[in-house]
Amino acid sequence: GENMLWGGRFTGGLDPLMVSYNESIYYDRAFYAQDIAGSIAWARANKNRGILTEHEFSEIERGLNAVKEEWASNKFDIKPGVDEDIHTANERRLGEIIGKDIAGKLHTGRSRNEQIATDMRLWLREQLKTIEGYLSDLLKVIAARAESEIEHVMPGYTHLQRAQPIRWSHWMLSYGMAFATDLQRLREVVKRVNRSPLGCGALAGNPFNIDRDAMAKELGFETLIYNSMAGVADRDFVVETMQWGSMLMLHMSRWAEDLIIYSSGEFNFVKLSDAYSTGSSLMPQKKNPDSLELLRGKSGRAYGQMAGLMMTIKGIPSTYNKDLQESVEPLLDHVKTVGDSIQIATGVLSTLAIQPESMLASLTPDMLATDLADYLVRKGVPFRETHHISGRCVALAEKEKTPMDKLSYEQLHEIDSRFDKDVVEMFDYQRSVEMRSASGGTSKSSVMEQIKVLKQMLEGN
Ligand code: ARG
Repeated sequence: GENMLWGGRFTGGLDPLMVSYNESIYYDRAFYAQDIAGSIAWARANKNRGILTEHEFSEIERGLNAVKEEWASNKFDIKPGVDEDIHTANERRLGEIIGKDIAGKLHTGRSRNEQIATDMRLWLREQLKTIEGYLSDLLKVIAARAESEIEHVMPGYTHLQRAQPIRWSHWMLSYGMAFATDLQRLREVVKRVNRSPLGCGALAGNPFNIDRDAMAKELGFETLIYNSMAGVADRDFVVETMQWGSMLMLHMSRWAEDLIIYSSGEFNFVKLSDAYSTGSSLMPQKKNPDSLELLRGKSGRAYGQMAGLMMTIKGIPSTYNKDLQESVEPLLDHVKTVGDSIQIATGVLSTLAIQPESMLASLTPDMLATDLADYLVRKGVPFRETHHISGRCVALAEKEKTPMDKLSYEQLHEIDSRFDKDVVEMFDYQRSVEMRSASGGTSKSSVMEQIKVLKQMLEGN
Protein backbone atom coordinates (compact mmCIF):
# COMPACT_ATOMS: atom_id res chain seq x y z
CA GLY A 1 0.00 0.00 0.00
CA GLU A 2 2.69 2.52 0.90
CA ASN A 3 4.08 2.45 -2.65
CA MET A 4 0.76 3.32 -4.20
CA LEU A 5 -0.24 6.86 -5.13
CA TRP A 6 -2.81 6.80 -2.37
CA GLY A 7 -0.47 5.11 0.11
CA GLY A 8 0.08 7.90 2.66
CA ARG A 9 -2.11 6.47 5.39
CA PHE A 10 -1.17 2.84 4.74
CA THR A 11 1.54 0.94 6.50
CA GLY A 12 1.27 -2.68 5.39
CA GLY A 13 1.43 -4.05 1.87
CA LEU A 14 -1.54 -5.30 -0.08
CA ASP A 15 -2.28 -8.99 -0.23
CA PRO A 16 -0.84 -10.11 -3.58
CA LEU A 17 -4.14 -11.46 -4.84
CA MET A 18 -5.79 -8.23 -3.74
CA VAL A 19 -3.35 -6.35 -5.98
CA SER A 20 -4.47 -8.14 -9.10
CA TYR A 21 -8.08 -8.30 -7.94
CA ASN A 22 -8.10 -4.53 -7.59
CA GLU A 23 -6.14 -3.47 -10.64
CA SER A 24 -7.79 -2.42 -13.87
CA ILE A 25 -4.76 -1.31 -15.89
CA TYR A 26 -4.80 -4.35 -18.17
CA TYR A 27 -8.13 -3.26 -19.58
CA ASP A 28 -8.56 0.44 -18.81
CA ARG A 29 -5.34 1.08 -20.71
CA ALA A 30 -7.77 1.20 -23.65
CA PHE A 31 -8.53 4.73 -22.45
CA TYR A 32 -4.94 6.01 -22.41
CA ALA A 33 -5.49 8.72 -25.03
CA GLN A 34 -8.71 9.94 -23.41
CA ASP A 35 -7.09 9.95 -19.98
CA ILE A 36 -4.26 12.11 -21.27
CA ALA A 37 -6.54 14.49 -23.16
CA GLY A 38 -8.55 14.89 -19.96
CA SER A 39 -5.42 15.57 -17.94
CA ILE A 40 -4.20 18.21 -20.37
CA ALA A 41 -7.59 19.96 -20.25
CA TRP A 42 -7.44 19.65 -16.48
CA ALA A 43 -3.96 21.18 -16.25
CA ARG A 44 -4.89 24.02 -18.59
CA ALA A 45 -7.98 24.88 -16.54
CA ASN A 46 -5.86 24.86 -13.37
CA LYS A 47 -3.32 27.14 -14.99
CA ASN A 48 -6.14 29.54 -15.87
CA ARG A 49 -7.14 29.61 -12.19
CA GLY A 50 -3.55 30.26 -11.08
CA ILE A 51 -3.10 26.78 -9.54
CA LEU A 52 -0.34 26.00 -12.04
CA THR A 53 2.16 28.45 -13.54
CA GLU A 54 2.53 28.78 -17.30
CA HIS A 55 5.80 26.82 -17.04
CA GLU A 56 4.32 24.05 -14.93
CA PHE A 57 1.46 23.67 -17.35
CA SER A 58 3.68 23.43 -20.41
CA GLU A 59 5.89 20.87 -18.64
CA ILE A 60 2.86 18.79 -17.76
CA GLU A 61 1.54 19.06 -21.30
CA ARG A 62 4.90 18.07 -22.76
CA GLY A 63 5.22 15.14 -20.36
CA LEU A 64 1.71 13.88 -20.95
CA ASN A 65 2.23 13.97 -24.71
CA ALA A 66 5.41 11.95 -24.22
CA VAL A 67 3.47 9.39 -22.15
CA LYS A 68 0.83 9.22 -24.86
CA GLU A 69 3.52 8.60 -27.43
CA GLU A 70 4.80 5.66 -25.36
CA TRP A 71 1.35 4.09 -25.26
CA ALA A 72 0.81 4.70 -28.97
CA SER A 73 4.08 3.04 -29.92
CA ASN A 74 3.58 0.18 -27.47
CA LYS A 75 6.56 1.25 -25.38
CA PHE A 76 4.73 2.08 -22.16
CA ASP A 77 6.20 -0.13 -19.50
CA ILE A 78 3.43 -1.11 -17.08
CA LYS A 79 4.82 -1.53 -13.56
CA PRO A 80 3.11 -4.63 -12.23
CA GLY A 81 1.66 -4.13 -8.78
CA VAL A 82 2.22 -0.37 -8.94
CA ASP A 83 0.27 0.83 -11.94
CA GLU A 84 -3.16 0.10 -10.55
CA ASP A 85 -5.14 1.76 -13.30
CA ILE A 86 -4.66 4.02 -16.31
CA HIS A 87 -4.83 7.18 -14.19
CA THR A 88 -2.15 6.16 -11.70
CA ALA A 89 0.02 4.70 -14.47
CA ASN A 90 -0.02 7.91 -16.47
CA GLU A 91 0.73 10.04 -13.42
CA ARG A 92 3.55 7.76 -12.30
CA ARG A 93 5.18 7.94 -15.72
CA LEU A 94 4.63 11.71 -15.97
CA GLY A 95 6.57 12.10 -12.73
CA GLU A 96 9.46 10.10 -14.15
CA ILE A 97 9.56 12.24 -17.28
CA ILE A 98 9.11 15.77 -15.90
CA GLY A 99 9.94 15.26 -12.24
CA LYS A 100 7.65 14.67 -9.28
CA ASP A 101 7.63 18.30 -8.12
CA ILE A 102 5.61 19.50 -11.06
CA ALA A 103 3.87 16.20 -11.85
CA GLY A 104 2.62 16.11 -8.27
CA LYS A 105 0.57 19.24 -8.89
CA LEU A 106 -1.53 17.76 -11.72
CA HIS A 107 -3.99 15.96 -9.47
CA THR A 108 -4.93 19.11 -7.48
CA GLY A 109 -8.63 19.05 -6.71
CA ARG A 110 -9.14 16.02 -8.90
CA SER A 111 -10.34 12.49 -8.26
CA ARG A 112 -9.97 9.31 -10.25
CA ASN A 113 -13.72 9.06 -9.85
CA GLU A 114 -14.26 11.93 -12.27
CA GLN A 115 -11.33 10.76 -14.40
CA ILE A 116 -12.68 7.30 -15.14
CA ALA A 117 -16.14 8.66 -15.90
CA THR A 118 -14.60 11.22 -18.24
CA ASP A 119 -12.36 8.67 -19.95
CA MET A 120 -15.18 6.21 -20.52
CA ARG A 121 -17.48 8.85 -21.96
CA LEU A 122 -14.81 10.21 -24.32
CA TRP A 123 -13.87 6.72 -25.46
CA LEU A 124 -17.46 5.59 -25.89
CA ARG A 125 -18.39 8.70 -27.85
CA GLU A 126 -15.74 7.85 -30.44
CA GLN A 127 -16.68 4.18 -30.55
CA LEU A 128 -20.34 5.00 -31.06
CA LYS A 129 -19.46 7.30 -33.94
CA THR A 130 -17.55 4.43 -35.56
CA ILE A 131 -20.48 2.09 -34.95
CA GLU A 132 -22.83 4.66 -36.46
CA GLY A 133 -20.71 4.44 -39.60
CA TYR A 134 -20.93 0.62 -39.63
CA LEU A 135 -24.68 0.73 -39.19
CA SER A 136 -25.04 3.28 -41.99
CA ASP A 137 -23.05 0.96 -44.26
CA LEU A 138 -25.37 -1.95 -43.47
CA LEU A 139 -28.41 0.18 -44.22
CA LYS A 140 -26.91 1.29 -47.51
CA VAL A 141 -26.43 -2.32 -48.57
CA ILE A 142 -30.02 -3.12 -47.59
CA ALA A 143 -31.34 -0.14 -49.56
CA ALA A 144 -29.24 -0.96 -52.63
CA ARG A 145 -30.22 -4.63 -52.70
CA ALA A 146 -33.86 -3.86 -52.03
CA GLU A 147 -33.83 -1.62 -55.08
CA SER A 148 -31.96 -3.90 -57.47
CA GLU A 149 -33.77 -7.12 -56.44
CA ILE A 150 -37.26 -5.69 -56.20
CA GLU A 151 -38.69 -8.08 -58.82
CA HIS A 152 -38.26 -11.24 -56.78
CA VAL A 153 -41.24 -12.66 -54.94
CA MET A 154 -41.06 -15.19 -52.13
CA PRO A 155 -43.32 -16.63 -49.43
CA GLY A 156 -43.87 -14.41 -46.44
CA TYR A 157 -44.34 -16.26 -43.15
CA THR A 158 -46.25 -16.03 -39.92
CA HIS A 159 -45.67 -18.80 -37.38
CA LEU A 160 -43.09 -19.99 -39.93
CA GLN A 161 -46.05 -21.16 -42.03
CA ARG A 162 -46.47 -19.87 -45.56
CA ALA A 163 -48.78 -16.85 -45.31
CA GLN A 164 -48.81 -14.47 -48.26
CA PRO A 165 -46.48 -13.68 -51.14
CA ILE A 166 -44.06 -10.81 -50.51
CA ARG A 167 -41.21 -9.21 -52.33
CA TRP A 168 -37.76 -10.36 -51.21
CA SER A 169 -36.97 -6.65 -50.90
CA HIS A 170 -39.87 -6.29 -48.51
CA TRP A 171 -38.28 -8.88 -46.25
CA MET A 172 -34.94 -7.07 -46.36
CA LEU A 173 -36.56 -3.76 -45.59
CA SER A 174 -38.47 -5.20 -42.64
CA TYR A 175 -35.11 -5.52 -40.89
CA GLY A 176 -33.88 -2.36 -42.57
CA MET A 177 -36.57 -0.41 -40.73
CA ALA A 178 -35.55 -1.94 -37.41
CA PHE A 179 -31.88 -1.15 -38.00
CA ALA A 180 -32.69 2.37 -39.16
CA THR A 181 -34.63 2.89 -35.94
CA ASP A 182 -31.59 1.60 -34.07
CA LEU A 183 -29.59 4.27 -35.87
CA GLN A 184 -32.01 6.95 -34.67
CA ARG A 185 -31.77 5.60 -31.13
CA LEU A 186 -27.99 5.59 -31.33
CA ARG A 187 -27.92 9.26 -32.19
CA GLU A 188 -29.95 9.91 -29.05
CA VAL A 189 -27.68 7.76 -26.89
CA VAL A 190 -24.57 9.60 -28.08
CA LYS A 191 -26.01 12.90 -26.87
CA ARG A 192 -26.31 11.54 -23.34
CA VAL A 193 -22.88 9.91 -23.42
CA ASN A 194 -21.35 13.19 -24.48
CA ARG A 195 -21.68 15.07 -21.18
CA SER A 196 -18.74 16.08 -19.03
CA PRO A 197 -18.23 14.86 -15.47
CA LEU A 198 -14.85 16.61 -15.29
CA GLY A 199 -14.74 18.98 -12.33
CA CYS A 200 -17.07 16.88 -10.17
CA GLY A 201 -14.21 15.88 -7.85
CA ALA A 202 -14.50 12.77 -5.73
CA LEU A 203 -18.19 13.60 -5.20
CA ALA A 204 -18.65 17.11 -3.80
CA GLY A 205 -17.29 19.31 -6.59
CA ASN A 206 -14.20 21.40 -7.22
CA PRO A 207 -12.86 23.74 -4.53
CA PHE A 208 -10.77 25.92 -6.88
CA ASN A 209 -13.66 27.20 -9.01
CA ILE A 210 -12.31 25.34 -12.01
CA ASP A 211 -13.87 26.34 -15.33
CA ARG A 212 -15.83 23.19 -16.15
CA ASP A 213 -17.30 24.69 -19.30
CA ALA A 214 -13.87 25.42 -20.72
CA MET A 215 -12.70 21.85 -20.05
CA ALA A 216 -15.88 20.42 -21.56
CA LYS A 217 -15.43 22.58 -24.64
CA GLU A 218 -11.80 21.57 -25.05
CA LEU A 219 -12.80 17.89 -24.88
CA GLY A 220 -15.72 18.28 -27.28
CA PHE A 221 -18.45 17.53 -24.73
CA GLU A 222 -21.88 18.87 -25.57
CA THR A 223 -22.76 19.87 -22.03
CA LEU A 224 -21.92 19.23 -18.36
CA ILE A 225 -23.32 16.87 -15.80
CA TYR A 226 -24.63 19.46 -13.39
CA ASN A 227 -24.61 17.48 -10.17
CA SER A 228 -21.17 16.39 -9.01
CA MET A 229 -22.49 13.36 -7.12
CA ALA A 230 -24.40 12.23 -10.19
CA GLY A 231 -21.30 12.87 -12.28
CA VAL A 232 -19.20 10.28 -10.47
CA ALA A 233 -22.00 7.82 -9.67
CA ASP A 234 -23.58 7.63 -13.08
CA ARG A 235 -22.99 4.66 -15.35
CA ASP A 236 -26.35 5.13 -17.03
CA PHE A 237 -24.48 6.01 -20.20
CA VAL A 238 -22.90 2.53 -20.12
CA VAL A 239 -26.18 0.78 -19.34
CA GLU A 240 -28.01 2.76 -22.01
CA THR A 241 -25.36 1.92 -24.58
CA MET A 242 -25.69 -1.76 -23.74
CA GLN A 243 -29.48 -1.57 -23.81
CA TRP A 244 -29.16 0.02 -27.20
CA GLY A 245 -26.69 -2.63 -28.32
CA SER A 246 -28.93 -5.38 -26.96
CA MET A 247 -31.88 -4.14 -28.99
CA LEU A 248 -29.73 -3.98 -32.08
CA MET A 249 -28.41 -7.50 -31.45
CA LEU A 250 -31.97 -8.68 -30.95
CA HIS A 251 -32.79 -7.49 -34.48
CA MET A 252 -29.54 -8.94 -35.74
CA SER A 253 -30.30 -12.29 -34.18
CA ARG A 254 -33.74 -12.59 -35.75
CA TRP A 255 -32.32 -11.49 -39.08
CA ALA A 256 -29.63 -14.14 -38.80
CA GLU A 257 -32.18 -16.78 -37.82
CA ASP A 258 -34.29 -16.02 -40.91
CA LEU A 259 -31.24 -16.35 -43.13
CA ILE A 260 -30.16 -19.58 -41.43
CA ILE A 261 -33.58 -21.01 -42.27
CA TYR A 262 -33.55 -19.56 -45.79
CA SER A 263 -30.10 -20.99 -46.47
CA SER A 264 -31.09 -24.53 -45.47
CA GLY A 265 -31.44 -27.09 -48.22
CA GLU A 266 -35.17 -27.34 -47.62
CA PHE A 267 -35.69 -23.64 -48.33
CA ASN A 268 -32.70 -22.79 -50.50
CA PHE A 269 -33.74 -19.15 -50.90
CA VAL A 270 -30.21 -17.83 -50.34
CA LYS A 271 -26.64 -19.05 -50.58
CA LEU A 272 -24.05 -17.70 -48.18
CA SER A 273 -20.70 -16.81 -49.68
CA ASP A 274 -17.68 -18.89 -48.73
CA ALA A 275 -16.22 -15.88 -46.94
CA TYR A 276 -18.87 -16.20 -44.22
CA SER A 277 -19.30 -19.98 -44.04
CA THR A 278 -17.25 -22.82 -42.67
CA GLY A 279 -17.00 -26.51 -43.37
CA SER A 280 -17.29 -29.57 -41.23
CA SER A 281 -14.20 -31.42 -40.06
CA LEU A 282 -16.06 -34.69 -40.62
CA MET A 283 -18.70 -34.22 -43.30
CA PRO A 284 -17.16 -33.13 -46.60
CA GLN A 285 -20.42 -31.86 -48.08
CA LYS A 286 -21.17 -29.37 -45.30
CA LYS A 287 -21.19 -25.62 -45.66
CA ASN A 288 -22.38 -24.11 -42.43
CA PRO A 289 -23.70 -20.58 -41.79
CA ASP A 290 -21.36 -19.97 -38.84
CA SER A 291 -21.35 -16.21 -39.34
CA LEU A 292 -25.12 -16.11 -38.83
CA GLU A 293 -25.00 -18.51 -35.90
CA LEU A 294 -22.37 -16.33 -34.24
CA LEU A 295 -24.52 -13.25 -34.74
CA ARG A 296 -27.36 -15.11 -33.05
CA GLY A 297 -25.07 -16.42 -30.32
CA LYS A 298 -23.30 -13.17 -29.62
CA SER A 299 -26.62 -11.44 -29.07
CA GLY A 300 -26.97 -13.56 -25.92
CA ARG A 301 -23.57 -12.42 -24.80
CA ALA A 302 -24.50 -8.78 -25.40
CA TYR A 303 -27.66 -9.03 -23.29
CA GLY A 304 -25.72 -10.78 -20.56
CA GLN A 305 -23.34 -7.87 -20.25
CA MET A 306 -26.24 -5.43 -20.08
CA ALA A 307 -28.18 -7.40 -17.49
CA GLY A 308 -25.03 -8.12 -15.49
CA LEU A 309 -24.10 -4.46 -15.19
CA MET A 310 -27.61 -3.47 -14.17
CA MET A 311 -27.42 -6.03 -11.38
CA THR A 312 -24.00 -4.75 -10.36
CA ILE A 313 -25.21 -1.18 -10.09
CA LYS A 314 -28.68 -1.53 -8.67
CA GLY A 315 -27.78 -1.98 -5.02
CA ILE A 316 -24.78 0.24 -4.50
CA PRO A 317 -25.06 3.30 -2.28
CA SER A 318 -24.54 6.88 -3.39
CA THR A 319 -21.70 8.04 -5.63
CA TYR A 320 -18.51 6.16 -6.35
CA ASN A 321 -17.98 2.60 -5.18
CA LYS A 322 -15.40 0.26 -6.59
CA ASP A 323 -18.19 -1.89 -7.98
CA LEU A 324 -18.36 0.67 -10.76
CA GLN A 325 -15.00 -0.51 -12.04
CA GLU A 326 -16.91 -3.62 -13.11
CA SER A 327 -18.62 -1.51 -15.77
CA VAL A 328 -15.46 -1.23 -17.83
CA GLU A 329 -14.86 -4.76 -19.12
CA PRO A 330 -18.47 -5.43 -20.14
CA LEU A 331 -18.51 -2.12 -21.99
CA LEU A 332 -15.29 -2.87 -23.86
CA ASP A 333 -16.56 -6.29 -24.83
CA HIS A 334 -20.08 -5.16 -25.67
CA VAL A 335 -18.90 -2.39 -27.94
CA LYS A 336 -16.52 -4.72 -29.76
CA THR A 337 -19.19 -7.41 -30.10
CA VAL A 338 -21.74 -4.99 -31.51
CA GLY A 339 -19.27 -3.26 -33.84
CA ASP A 340 -17.93 -6.54 -35.19
CA SER A 341 -21.40 -8.00 -35.55
CA ILE A 342 -22.67 -5.14 -37.69
CA GLN A 343 -19.64 -5.45 -39.96
CA ILE A 344 -20.13 -9.20 -40.28
CA ALA A 345 -23.81 -8.72 -41.10
CA THR A 346 -22.90 -6.21 -43.79
CA GLY A 347 -20.39 -8.67 -45.22
CA VAL A 348 -22.90 -11.51 -45.21
CA LEU A 349 -25.61 -9.46 -46.88
CA SER A 350 -23.41 -7.88 -49.53
CA THR A 351 -22.06 -11.28 -50.63
CA LEU A 352 -25.29 -13.27 -50.32
CA ALA A 353 -26.60 -14.93 -53.49
CA ILE A 354 -30.36 -15.22 -53.75
CA GLN A 355 -32.09 -18.15 -55.47
CA PRO A 356 -35.18 -16.53 -57.01
CA GLU A 357 -36.38 -19.77 -58.66
CA SER A 358 -36.53 -21.54 -55.30
CA MET A 359 -38.37 -18.61 -53.78
CA LEU A 360 -40.90 -18.75 -56.60
CA ALA A 361 -41.17 -22.54 -56.44
CA SER A 362 -42.00 -22.34 -52.73
CA LEU A 363 -45.06 -20.21 -53.33
CA THR A 364 -48.30 -22.20 -53.16
CA PRO A 365 -51.70 -21.20 -54.55
CA ASP A 366 -53.35 -21.45 -51.13
CA MET A 367 -51.27 -18.39 -50.18
CA LEU A 368 -53.74 -16.54 -52.43
CA ALA A 369 -56.80 -17.60 -50.45
CA THR A 370 -57.03 -14.11 -48.96
CA ASP A 371 -56.95 -12.63 -52.45
CA LEU A 372 -59.81 -14.92 -53.39
CA ALA A 373 -61.81 -13.64 -50.42
CA ASP A 374 -60.91 -10.05 -51.35
CA TYR A 375 -62.27 -10.70 -54.87
CA LEU A 376 -65.76 -11.18 -53.41
CA VAL A 377 -65.27 -8.24 -51.02
CA ARG A 378 -64.92 -6.09 -54.13
CA LYS A 379 -68.30 -7.43 -55.24
CA GLY A 380 -69.86 -6.18 -52.02
CA VAL A 381 -69.84 -9.42 -49.98
CA PRO A 382 -68.98 -8.90 -46.27
CA PHE A 383 -65.45 -10.07 -45.52
CA ARG A 384 -66.50 -12.48 -42.79
CA GLU A 385 -68.61 -14.26 -45.41
CA THR A 386 -65.90 -14.19 -48.11
CA HIS A 387 -63.37 -15.60 -45.64
CA HIS A 388 -65.70 -18.55 -45.16
CA ILE A 389 -66.31 -19.02 -48.89
CA SER A 390 -62.61 -18.93 -49.67
CA GLY A 391 -62.06 -21.42 -46.87
CA ARG A 392 -64.45 -23.81 -48.58
CA CYS A 393 -62.41 -23.48 -51.79
CA VAL A 394 -59.27 -24.35 -49.77
CA ALA A 395 -61.06 -27.37 -48.32
CA LEU A 396 -62.27 -28.51 -51.74
CA ALA A 397 -58.75 -28.27 -53.18
CA GLU A 398 -57.49 -30.29 -50.24
CA LYS A 399 -60.22 -32.90 -50.70
CA GLU A 400 -59.54 -33.14 -54.46
CA LYS A 401 -55.80 -33.26 -53.71
CA THR A 402 -55.27 -30.51 -56.24
CA PRO A 403 -53.61 -27.10 -55.96
CA MET A 404 -56.20 -24.40 -55.47
CA ASP A 405 -55.44 -22.69 -58.76
CA LYS A 406 -56.32 -25.93 -60.56
CA LEU A 407 -59.91 -25.83 -59.37
CA SER A 408 -62.11 -25.15 -62.37
CA TYR A 409 -64.20 -22.04 -62.75
CA GLU A 410 -67.27 -24.31 -62.52
CA GLN A 411 -66.13 -25.74 -59.19
CA LEU A 412 -65.57 -22.28 -57.79
CA HIS A 413 -68.85 -21.02 -59.19
CA GLU A 414 -70.64 -23.90 -57.55
CA ILE A 415 -69.23 -22.90 -54.17
CA ASP A 416 -70.41 -19.32 -54.72
CA SER A 417 -72.28 -18.02 -57.74
CA ARG A 418 -70.72 -14.59 -57.35
CA PHE A 419 -67.41 -15.99 -58.65
CA ASP A 420 -67.21 -14.88 -62.29
CA LYS A 421 -64.89 -16.10 -65.02
CA ASP A 422 -62.25 -13.50 -64.08
CA VAL A 423 -61.78 -15.22 -60.70
CA VAL A 424 -58.93 -17.24 -62.16
CA GLU A 425 -56.94 -14.01 -62.38
CA MET A 426 -56.64 -14.14 -58.59
CA PHE A 427 -54.14 -16.99 -58.84
CA ASP A 428 -51.25 -14.75 -59.74
CA TYR A 429 -48.49 -14.00 -57.24
CA GLN A 430 -47.36 -10.82 -58.98
CA ARG A 431 -50.90 -9.54 -58.93
CA SER A 432 -51.18 -10.37 -55.24
CA VAL A 433 -48.10 -8.40 -54.23
CA GLU A 434 -49.04 -5.48 -56.48
CA MET A 435 -52.46 -5.24 -54.83
CA ARG A 436 -50.74 -4.32 -51.56
CA SER A 437 -49.97 -0.80 -52.62
CA ALA A 438 -50.94 1.12 -49.49
CA SER A 439 -47.92 2.59 -47.69
CA GLY A 440 -45.80 -0.09 -46.08
CA GLY A 441 -47.11 -2.86 -48.32
CA THR A 442 -45.28 -5.21 -50.62
CA SER A 443 -46.19 -3.67 -53.99
CA LYS A 444 -43.35 -2.25 -56.02
CA SER A 445 -44.38 1.35 -55.40
CA SER A 446 -44.70 0.77 -51.65
CA VAL A 447 -41.31 -0.93 -51.50
CA MET A 448 -39.77 1.98 -53.39
CA GLU A 449 -41.33 4.34 -50.88
CA GLN A 450 -39.79 2.32 -48.04
CA ILE A 451 -36.38 2.62 -49.64
CA LYS A 452 -36.85 6.38 -49.77
CA VAL A 453 -37.89 6.51 -46.11
CA LEU A 454 -34.91 4.34 -45.14
CA LYS A 455 -32.53 6.69 -46.92
CA GLN A 456 -34.09 9.66 -45.15
CA MET A 457 -33.61 7.94 -41.79
CA LEU A 458 -29.99 7.38 -42.75
CA GLU A 459 -29.58 11.09 -43.43
CA GLY A 460 -30.94 11.79 -39.95
CA ASN A 461 -34.45 12.89 -40.95
N1 ARG B 1 -10.03 2.18 -11.74
C1 ARG B 1 -11.13 2.88 -11.16
C2 ARG B 1 -12.43 2.54 -11.94
O1 ARG B 1 -12.35 2.00 -12.99
C3 ARG B 1 -10.90 4.34 -11.19
C4 ARG B 1 -11.54 5.09 -10.07
C5 ARG B 1 -10.96 4.69 -8.77
N2 ARG B 1 -11.36 5.54 -7.72
C6 ARG B 1 -11.24 5.19 -6.45
N3 ARG B 1 -11.57 6.02 -5.57
N4 ARG B 1 -10.81 4.03 -6.10
O2 ARG B 1 -13.51 2.81 -11.48
